[in-house]
Amino acid sequence: MTSLWLSDRVEPPWSASRLEDGPRSADIIVVGAGITGLMTAVLLARAGKEVLVLEARTVGAGTTGNTTAKISLLQGTHMTKILAKHGKDLARAYVEGNREGQDWVINHCETHGVAVQREDAYTYAQSAKGVPSAKAELKACQAVGLPVEWSDDAGVPFPYHGGVRLPEQAQFDPMPFLDTLAEEFTDRGGRLVEHARVRRVSWRGDKLRVYVNDAAQREVELETGRLVLATGIPILDRGGFFARLQPSRSYCLAYRVPGEITRPMMISTDSPTRSVRYAPAADGERLIVGGASHTVGRSRSPSKDLEELSSWTRQHYPGAEQTHFWSAQDYTPIDDLPYVGPILPNNESIFVATGFNKWGMTNGAAAALALSSRILGGRMDWSRAFASWSAHELSGVFTAMQFNAEVGFDLAKGWVTPATRIGRRGPGPDEGGVVSGPPWHLQARCRVDGTEHRVSPVCTHLGGIVNWNDADKAWECPLHGSRFAPDGTLLEGPATRDLTKSS
Ligand SMILES: Cc1cc2nc3c(=O)[nH]c(=O)nc-3n(C[C@H](O)[C@H](O)[C@H](O)COP(=O)(O)OP(=O)(O)OC[C@H]3O[C@@H](n4cnc5c(N)ncnc54)[C@H](O)[C@@H]3O)c2cc1C
Ligand code: FES
Repeated sequence: MTSLWLSDRVEPPWSASRLEDGPRSADIIVVGAGITGLMTAVLLARAGKEVLVLEARTVGAGTTGNTTAKISLLQGTHMTKILAKHGKDLARAYVEGNREGQDWVINHCETHGVAVQREDAYTYAQSAKGVPSAKAELKACQAVGLPVEWSDDAGVPFPYHGGVRLPEQAQFDPMPFLDTLAEEFTDRGGRLVEHARVRRVSWRGDKLRVYVNDAAQREVELETGRLVLATGIPILDRGGFFARLQPSRSYCLAYRVPGEITRPMMISTDSPTRSVRYAPAADGERLIVGGASHTVGRSRSPSKDLEELSSWTRQHYPGAEQTHFWSAQDYTPIDDLPYVGPILPNNESIFVATGFNKWGMTNGAAAALALSSRILGGRMDWSRAFASWSAHELSGVFTAMQFNAEVGFDLAKGWVTPATRIGRRGPGPDEGGVVSGPPWHLQARCRVDGTEHRVSPVCTHLGGIVNWNDADKAWECPLHGSRFAPDGTLLEGPATRDLTKSS
């Protein structure tokens, strides 16, 4: 299950450092080497700061290397929601930030020889039911000054009932882009360490102590003045961002298709969501189809929705041959605007950047511009639409209450439901995973490729009970989206520790 972008990687044009080889301190530590972390690191290094980037896995291994990588200001039906909740002024500031992010990424690609395809973007109705929301998005985009128009025909081979078109947007392969960032960063003397997972952070005087597990799982203590958490969802609970974000997982399929391939970038307004683009590849072009989204840990069988997506593709692109399958998650903020800034009000030491709602190619870039400028003493006018703490969040209070009520329900359900499966204790399922046992002795058992794993299902973040994802073959926590491999190894999320092994 490797994305089109991460498969067949050639040797990157930069070298990672080893934690044990460098000093145990840096002016600024950036955690996470996706688009947000690496761009922030480059901007700070350009200003002469001593920066250390710590990445738990490898560059791009998080959402950035598993995205669909449309660099677009037309973002599904996002503008309708932002405008309704926040009004024109903040909605315009949001667009301005995204436009700056988009310009930065495209300029950087052009000056560094990274291929970018300029294509029109569409938010479209796939049935009559989807037309009102597509029309609403048209109006919302016009209200904030985006040069959109209605289009009755997009020349696509699947059901299309009209849609909003924004010309000349962009798409790319995100990995060469990340490579050029990593190359510039290391050329400027920055240190980039892979397989270094930050576990916790504490204060000592006016400095931060950052505790990191290195590749050999030894704990290393580092010191810094400032910390940027570019980790998707923040890994520290201060600020309670886990309660202000809904983690959503989606799936992508890449195909070799005979004949014409769809040129514009498409996303549907009505369910089930279809996201479509093409991508150049070494041996011809690929069609990428995305969808089957669900809140992390709350889908009974993601593989069923994935199968539906796959048969939709085969129906409309006869002869399509699947070459890649991957998935990733991103975080929807309760008030629809990203959180970029201090982890707590008035704290100028720890910063977060999250809540990009599956539009991080521009939002992540905007976050990097806003954060680096704030750390360097400047200010982006539009950054008020990206504030991590502000009054505009009141508009999300109802959504937050609803989401957290669901979280509470899932917590209780997770502890009680497995008791009903007590009779199924003993050897695990033939293939797949199940949680069973009484609340005082819960066990998560799975069998993948013939190997059985037994772990505690209690999420190491705040005690949620994990569920099995049959498409990804992974344990997922329905509370705040932490994910674990079949053997309990932490993959991602606000948790920073593996599930406990069980006998
Ligand atoms: C399926 C899908 C399709 C998408 N398509 C688009 C699209 O077409 N256009 C668009 O604009 N956006 C899209 N997005 C959203 C976009 O991909 C993300 O918003 C963006 O990649 C987030 O980048 P990031 O750098 O903030 O996070 P990430 O890329 O997730 O980077 C975070 C990094 O932090 C590391 N990390 C986490 N915890 C620790 C720790 N404790 N210690 C050290 N390192 C740690 C992770 O390993 C990871 O590499 C999509 C998202 C999904 C899920
Ligand atoms: S992710 Fe918060 S409890 Fe599991």
